[in-house]
Amino acid sequence: MVFEITGKVALISGGASGIGLRYAKELLRSGLKGVTLADVNNAFGQKALQEIEKEFGPKKAIYVQTDVTDMKSFENAFKKTIEAFQNLDILINNAGILNDATWEKEVAININGVIHGVLLGLENYIPKYKSSAEGVIVNISSIAGIKEFSIIPIYTATKFAVMGMSKAFGDEDHYNRTKVKVLALCPGVTDTPLITEIDGKNLGPPYQKLLEENLSKLPSQQNCVRSFRRSSV
Ligand SMILES: NC(=O)c1ccc[n+]([C@@H]2O[C@H](COP(=O)([O-])OP(=O)(O)OC[C@H]3O[C@@H](n4cnc5c(N)ncnc54)[C@H](O)[C@@H]3O)[C@@H](O)[C@H]2O)c1
Repeated sequence: MVFEITGKVALISGGASGIGLRYAKELLRSGLKGVTLADVNNAFGQKALQEIEKEFGPKKAIYVQTDVTDMKSFENAFKKTIEAFQNLDILINNAGILNDATWEKEVAININGVIHGVLLGLENYIPKYKSSAEGVIVNISSIAGIKEFSIIPIYTATKFAVMGMSKAFGDEDHYNRTKVKVLALCPGVTDTPLITEIDGKNLGPPYQKLLEENLSKLPSQQNCVRSFRRSSV
Protein backbone atom coordinates (compact mmCIF):
# COMPACT_ATOMS: atom_id res chain seq x y z
CA MET A 1 0.00 0.00 0.00
CA VAL A 2 1.38 3.43 -0.97
CA PHE A 3 1.35 5.84 1.96
CA GLU A 4 -0.17 9.17 0.86
CA ILE A 5 1.37 12.23 2.60
CA THR A 6 -1.34 14.70 1.52
CA GLY A 7 -3.57 15.71 4.41
CA LYS A 8 -1.59 13.77 7.04
CA VAL A 9 -0.23 15.01 10.37
CA ALA A 10 3.34 14.43 11.58
CA LEU A 11 5.23 14.79 14.83
CA ILE A 12 9.01 15.13 14.55
CA SER A 13 11.25 14.94 17.59
CA GLY A 14 14.31 17.16 17.27
CA GLY A 15 12.35 18.80 14.47
CA ALA A 16 13.39 22.40 15.16
CA SER A 17 16.73 22.24 13.33
CA GLY A 18 19.06 20.14 11.22
CA ILE A 19 17.73 17.07 9.43
CA GLY A 20 14.50 17.07 11.47
CA LEU A 21 13.48 20.52 10.23
CA ARG A 22 14.33 19.43 6.70
CA TYR A 23 11.98 16.45 7.08
CA ALA A 24 9.23 18.83 8.23
CA LYS A 25 9.67 21.11 5.23
CA GLU A 26 9.86 18.26 2.71
CA LEU A 27 6.70 16.68 4.13
CA LEU A 28 4.88 20.04 3.97
CA ARG A 29 6.02 20.40 0.35
CA SER A 30 4.42 16.99 -0.25
CA GLY A 31 1.04 18.13 1.08
CA LEU A 32 1.25 17.45 4.82
CA LYS A 33 -1.65 19.06 6.74
CA GLY A 34 0.37 19.93 9.83
CA VAL A 35 3.51 19.17 11.77
CA THR A 36 4.61 19.33 15.39
CA LEU A 37 8.22 20.22 16.03
CA ALA A 38 8.99 18.57 19.38
CA ASP A 39 12.36 19.90 20.39
CA VAL A 40 14.23 20.83 23.54
CA ASN A 41 15.61 24.07 22.10
CA ASN A 42 13.17 27.01 22.28
CA ALA A 43 15.26 29.37 20.16
CA PHE A 44 15.48 26.81 17.34
CA GLY A 45 11.75 26.16 17.73
CA GLN A 46 10.72 29.80 17.30
CA LYS A 47 13.05 30.30 14.34
CA ALA A 48 11.78 27.12 12.67
CA LEU A 49 8.14 28.22 13.09
CA GLN A 50 8.93 31.56 11.43
CA GLU A 51 10.64 29.82 8.51
CA ILE A 52 7.72 27.42 8.05
CA GLU A 53 5.11 30.17 8.25
CA LYS A 54 7.03 32.22 5.68
CA GLU A 55 7.21 29.31 3.22
CA PHE A 56 3.93 27.46 3.87
CA GLY A 57 1.62 29.99 5.54
CA PRO A 58 0.01 30.01 9.00
CA LYS A 59 -1.24 27.06 11.08
CA LYS A 60 0.92 24.43 9.37
CA ALA A 61 3.25 23.86 12.32
CA ILE A 62 3.39 24.06 16.09
CA TYR A 63 6.45 23.96 18.31
CA VAL A 64 6.22 22.09 21.61
CA GLN A 65 9.19 22.27 23.95
CA THR A 66 9.98 18.62 24.55
CA ASP A 67 12.66 16.53 26.17
CA VAL A 68 12.42 13.06 24.63
CA THR A 69 14.25 11.54 27.59
CA ASP A 70 11.23 12.37 29.76
CA MET A 71 8.15 10.30 28.83
CA LYS A 72 5.69 12.89 30.25
CA SER A 73 7.34 15.72 28.35
CA PHE A 74 7.26 13.67 25.13
CA GLU A 75 3.60 12.69 25.70
CA ASN A 76 2.72 16.37 26.04
CA ALA A 77 3.89 16.85 22.43
CA PHE A 78 1.47 14.11 21.31
CA LYS A 79 -1.39 15.74 23.25
CA LYS A 80 -0.65 19.18 21.78
CA THR A 81 -0.55 17.64 18.28
CA ILE A 82 -4.04 16.21 18.68
CA GLU A 83 -5.32 19.53 20.10
CA ALA A 84 -3.90 21.45 17.13
CA PHE A 85 -4.49 19.04 14.23
CA GLN A 86 -6.97 16.39 15.60
CA ASN A 87 -4.97 13.54 14.02
CA LEU A 88 -1.54 11.91 14.11
CA ASP A 89 -0.33 9.73 11.23
CA ILE A 90 3.45 10.02 11.12
CA LEU A 91 6.01 10.03 13.93
CA ILE A 92 9.67 10.65 13.16
CA ASN A 93 11.90 9.78 16.11
CA ASN A 94 14.74 12.01 14.98
CA ALA A 95 16.12 13.72 18.13
CA GLY A 96 19.66 12.55 18.65
CA ILE A 97 23.09 13.74 19.75
CA LEU A 98 26.60 12.62 18.94
CA ASN A 99 28.71 13.04 22.05
CA ASP A 100 30.46 9.99 23.47
CA ALA A 101 31.97 12.19 26.21
CA THR A 102 28.49 12.54 27.75
CA TRP A 103 27.42 9.03 26.89
CA GLU A 104 24.71 8.70 29.56
CA LYS A 105 22.89 11.64 27.97
CA GLU A 106 23.59 10.25 24.50
CA VAL A 107 22.08 6.88 25.48
CA ALA A 108 19.11 8.62 27.14
CA ILE A 109 18.28 10.66 24.03
CA ASN A 110 19.26 8.26 21.25
CA ILE A 111 17.85 5.06 22.79
CA ASN A 112 15.38 5.92 25.57
CA GLY A 113 13.99 8.83 23.56
CA VAL A 114 13.22 6.54 20.62
CA ILE A 115 11.69 3.89 22.92
CA HIS A 116 9.47 6.56 24.50
CA GLY A 117 8.35 7.73 21.07
CA VAL A 118 7.63 4.24 19.77
CA LEU A 119 5.66 3.25 22.88
CA LEU A 120 3.58 6.43 22.79
CA GLY A 121 3.07 6.36 19.03
CA LEU A 122 2.58 2.65 18.41
CA GLU A 123 0.67 1.66 21.52
CA ASN A 124 -1.58 4.67 21.83
CA TYR A 125 -1.65 7.81 19.74
CA ILE A 126 -1.25 6.69 16.12
CA PRO A 127 -3.72 3.75 16.19
CA LYS A 128 -6.22 6.01 17.97
CA TYR A 129 -5.78 9.18 15.94
CA LYS A 130 -4.58 8.15 12.45
CA SER A 131 -6.67 9.75 9.71
CA SER A 132 -6.58 6.79 7.30
CA ALA A 133 -5.94 3.05 7.21
CA GLU A 134 -2.38 3.08 8.46
CA GLY A 135 0.25 5.16 10.24
CA VAL A 136 4.04 5.27 10.10
CA ILE A 137 6.84 5.57 12.61
CA VAL A 138 10.30 6.36 11.23
CA ASN A 139 13.20 5.93 13.64
CA ILE A 140 16.36 7.77 12.64
CA SER A 141 19.34 5.50 12.97
CA SER A 142 22.51 6.14 10.95
CA ILE A 143 25.14 4.52 8.80
CA ALA A 144 26.63 3.95 12.27
CA GLY A 145 23.63 1.67 12.90
CA ILE A 146 24.67 -0.61 10.04
CA LYS A 147 28.44 -0.52 10.22
CA GLU A 148 30.44 0.00 13.39
CA PHE A 149 32.68 3.10 13.63
CA SER A 150 35.58 2.73 16.07
CA ILE A 151 35.90 6.51 16.43
CA ILE A 152 32.42 6.86 17.97
CA PRO A 153 31.77 3.50 19.69
CA ILE A 154 28.96 4.54 22.04
CA TYR A 155 27.08 6.52 19.39
CA THR A 156 27.44 3.41 17.21
CA ALA A 157 25.89 1.32 20.00
CA THR A 158 22.92 3.68 20.25
CA LYS A 159 22.28 3.55 16.51
CA PHE A 160 22.54 -0.26 16.42
CA ALA A 161 19.96 -0.26 19.23
CA VAL A 162 17.63 1.87 17.10
CA MET A 163 18.05 -0.58 14.20
CA GLY A 164 17.33 -3.58 16.43
CA MET A 165 14.19 -2.12 17.97
CA SER A 166 12.95 -0.89 14.58
CA LYS A 167 13.24 -4.40 13.14
CA ALA A 168 11.48 -5.93 16.15
CA PHE A 169 8.69 -3.32 16.35
CA GLY A 170 8.52 -3.36 12.55
CA ASP A 171 7.54 -7.02 12.51
CA GLU A 172 4.12 -7.85 11.09
CA ASP A 173 3.10 -9.08 14.56
CA HIS A 174 2.91 -5.42 15.55
CA TYR A 175 1.65 -4.11 12.22
CA ASN A 176 -1.27 -6.54 12.23
CA ARG A 177 -2.49 -5.36 15.62
CA THR A 178 -1.75 -1.61 15.24
CA LYS A 179 -1.72 -0.88 11.47
CA VAL A 180 1.38 1.20 12.08
CA LYS A 181 4.52 0.57 10.01
CA VAL A 182 7.77 0.97 11.93
CA LEU A 183 10.82 1.75 9.81
CA ALA A 184 14.40 2.89 10.35
CA LEU A 185 16.27 5.38 8.21
CA CYS A 186 20.09 5.44 8.13
CA PRO A 187 21.46 8.76 6.89
CA GLY A 188 25.11 9.19 5.92
CA VAL A 189 27.23 12.09 7.17
CA THR A 190 25.18 15.27 6.77
CA ASP A 191 26.39 18.81 7.32
CA THR A 192 24.51 19.79 10.50
CA PRO A 193 25.80 21.00 13.92
CA LEU A 194 25.86 17.34 15.00
CA ILE A 195 28.83 16.94 12.64
CA THR A 196 30.24 20.47 12.34
CA GLU A 197 30.47 20.87 16.13
CA ILE A 198 31.88 17.41 16.71
CA ASP A 199 35.32 18.60 17.90
CA GLY A 200 35.96 17.71 21.51
CA LYS A 201 32.82 15.58 21.79
CA ASN A 202 34.61 12.33 22.35
CA LEU A 203 36.08 10.00 24.92
CA GLY A 204 39.46 11.75 25.15
CA PRO A 205 42.62 12.47 23.11
CA PRO A 206 43.11 8.99 21.57
CA TYR A 207 39.54 8.98 20.25
CA GLN A 208 39.82 12.60 19.13
CA LYS A 209 42.96 11.78 17.14
CA LEU A 210 41.19 8.85 15.44
CA LEU A 211 38.19 11.09 14.76
CA GLU A 212 40.29 13.78 13.10
CA GLU A 213 42.05 11.19 10.95
CA ASN A 214 38.89 9.39 9.89
CA LEU A 215 35.94 11.82 9.83
CA SER A 216 36.42 12.84 6.20
CA LYS A 217 36.42 9.17 5.15
CA LEU A 218 32.88 8.54 6.41
CA PRO A 219 30.27 8.12 3.64
CA SER A 220 28.51 11.46 3.22
CA GLN A 221 25.03 12.55 2.31
CA GLN A 222 26.20 14.71 -0.57
CA ASN A 223 22.82 15.87 -1.80
CA CYS A 224 21.72 16.83 1.69
CA VAL A 225 25.00 18.60 2.35
CA ARG A 226 24.53 20.70 -0.76
CA SER A 227 20.91 21.57 -0.02
CA PHE A 228 21.63 22.33 3.65
CA ARG A 229 24.28 24.82 2.55
CA ARG A 230 21.90 26.42 0.05
CA SER A 231 19.10 26.97 2.52
CA SER A 232 21.31 27.31 5.64
CA VAL A 233 18.85 25.25 7.69
N1 LIG B 1 24.16 14.77 10.75
C1 LIG B 1 24.54 13.54 10.43
O1 LIG B 1 25.60 13.35 9.80
C2 LIG B 1 23.72 12.36 10.80
C3 LIG B 1 24.01 11.12 10.19
C4 LIG B 1 23.25 10.01 10.53
C5 LIG B 1 22.22 10.12 11.44
N2 LIG B 1 21.97 11.31 12.03
C6 LIG B 1 20.90 11.36 13.01
O2 LIG B 1 19.90 12.27 12.56
C7 LIG B 1 19.23 12.83 13.68
C8 LIG B 1 19.23 14.35 13.56
O3 LIG B 1 20.57 14.80 13.58
P1 LIG B 1 21.03 16.23 13.05
O4 LIG B 1 22.29 16.03 12.31
O5 LIG B 1 19.91 16.95 12.41
O6 LIG B 1 21.41 16.91 14.45
P2 LIG B 1 21.20 18.40 14.98
O7 LIG B 1 22.11 18.53 16.14
O8 LIG B 1 21.35 19.36 13.85
O9 LIG B 1 19.67 18.41 15.44
C9 LIG B 1 19.23 17.63 16.52
C10 LIG B 1 18.00 18.27 17.10
O10 LIG B 1 17.59 17.45 18.22
C11 LIG B 1 17.24 18.32 19.30
N3 LIG B 1 17.38 17.62 20.57
C12 LIG B 1 18.54 17.31 21.23
N4 LIG B 1 18.26 16.72 22.39
C13 LIG B 1 16.91 16.63 22.49
C14 LIG B 1 16.01 16.12 23.46
N5 LIG B 1 16.46 15.59 24.62
N6 LIG B 1 14.67 16.18 23.23
C15 LIG B 1 14.21 16.75 22.07
N7 LIG B 1 15.02 17.26 21.12
C16 LIG B 1 16.34 17.20 21.32
C17 LIG B 1 18.19 19.49 19.16
O11 LIG B 1 17.74 20.65 19.87
C18 LIG B 1 18.23 19.68 17.65
O12 LIG B 1 17.21 20.56 17.20
C19 LIG B 1 19.95 12.31 14.93
O13 LIG B 1 19.27 11.20 15.44
C20 LIG B 1 21.30 11.87 14.37
O14 LIG B 1 21.91 10.87 15.17
C21 LIG B 1 22.69 12.44 11.73
